[in-house]
Amino acid sequence: MRSRWIVLFTVIIELSCLAAPPAVEQQARALQAVLRQADDSYYNKHQSILSDAAYDALRKQYDQLLADYPELSGANPVGAPVGESARVAHTAPVLSLDKVYSDEETTRFLQQTGTNLIYCVEPKIDGLTVVLRYRNGLLVQALTRGDGKTGVDITPAMLASGAVPAALPDAPAQLDVRGEALLSLPAFDALNRRRAESGQAPLKNPRNIASGTLMLTDYTEVARRRLEFQCFELLAADSMPATHTGALALMKKAGLPVVESVPVPANAVLEAIHELNRRRAALPFLTDGVVLKVDDLAVCAQLGATAHHPRSAVARKYEETPVQTRLLGVDWSRSETGRLTPVARFEPVEIQGATVQSATLHNLEHLRAMDLKIGDWINVIRSGGTVPEITGNLPERRTGNETEIPDPKESE
Ligand code: IVH
Repeated sequence: MRSRWIVLFTVIIELSCLAAPPAVEQQARALQAVLRQADDSYYNKHQSILSDAAYDALRKQYDQLLADYPELSGANPVGAPVGESARVAHTAPVLSLDKVYSDEETTRFLQQTGTNLIYCVEPKIDGLTVVLRYRNGLLVQALTRGDGKTGVDITPAMLASGAVPAALPDAPAQLDVRGEALLSLPAFDALNRRRAESGQAPLKNPRNIASGTLMLTDYTEVARRRLEFQCFELLAADSMPATHTGALALMKKAGLPVVESVPVPANAVLEAIHELNRRRAALPFLTDGVVLKVDDLAVCAQLGATAHHPRSAVARKYEETPVQTRLLGVDWSRSETGRLTPVARFEPVEIQGATVQSATLHNLEHLRAMDLKIGDWINVIRSGGTVPEITGNLPERRTGNETEIPDPKESE
């Protein structure tokens, strides 16, 4: 009787040793989704969706998993692409950042957190947050931020994108990171050139393309778009460093791309922000501000967080640089309640990757206060990085050919 129990226990133990851990199974599913599509495309459509190097790296990774856990093939067939629309719970809320718009507000933030600290100054990349989970060096899950509590599983798309390695041989057993997926400006231009060659309309905004791309299950297209990734937060690791600078170094050492980060004392923060702002146009990707972070992670923990953002970091939004264009006319749009709203129409201009050609002038009083004439040169910004807004006109550039804006009743 006793020996039967021993045999039973031995079998249970052996079976549980053989079974692939959930993390491995997860990665195998994601890898298989991408490889199946790559194989189908190659053998049936005679197209390579991944570069040879990317295909070989993913195939090697997958074959190694099958060699280590033979039950992953056959007995446990892996099915459709992971989480096409499945929402997955984040292990901790994925918070956002509070915003400041001026040197005064920035100084207030420094005073509130502690002026004797080191702060990290980083570009605020205009892409989308992705949380990556590596287990024993394997990328087992990539999630969008979603609503901060649950995100969409985009593991296969992330693997196909090649933006981060599928395997990190030198990573700690547990490594959870957060970063920004982005489409660089050169990759954006290349994508639009490719579209133009096939007669397709150009795409307008690299940020929207980056997020749209990661939701695709056409991994051919995902791989072609050359997305990039920059880690900016270490969420969990076997042993956590004492500083954010240390966290970035750990992620970099593990083989991940990390955001550029400059640690400075409080009295050098404003200059570091302005310096990054000056370099903004030379960066090969879109940014919508600068992020300031307390470097000491123990101080960050002490400062805590609201339900929306940590108190130890802030986004300094850029003062938007206005772009000049000419006012072509003012249209009047009538709301359901019958109120008339003037909407300025101007020569199309490109601002931060988007073409804008109209902006609300809110109401008649606002329109009159701006003292605009048709034909005027005007300054336009994308307020908060998105909403087109006329900030003023340039009377000194008037030629005398400008005309008054017609009264709404006359123009209707
Ligand atoms: S830190 C707890 N650092 O900005 C907050 N965020 O508006 C951790 N972002 O959702 C965020 N560059 O997607 C951080 N260097 C950077 C960033 C950055 C871009 C994005 C991120 C975040 C959003 C907040």
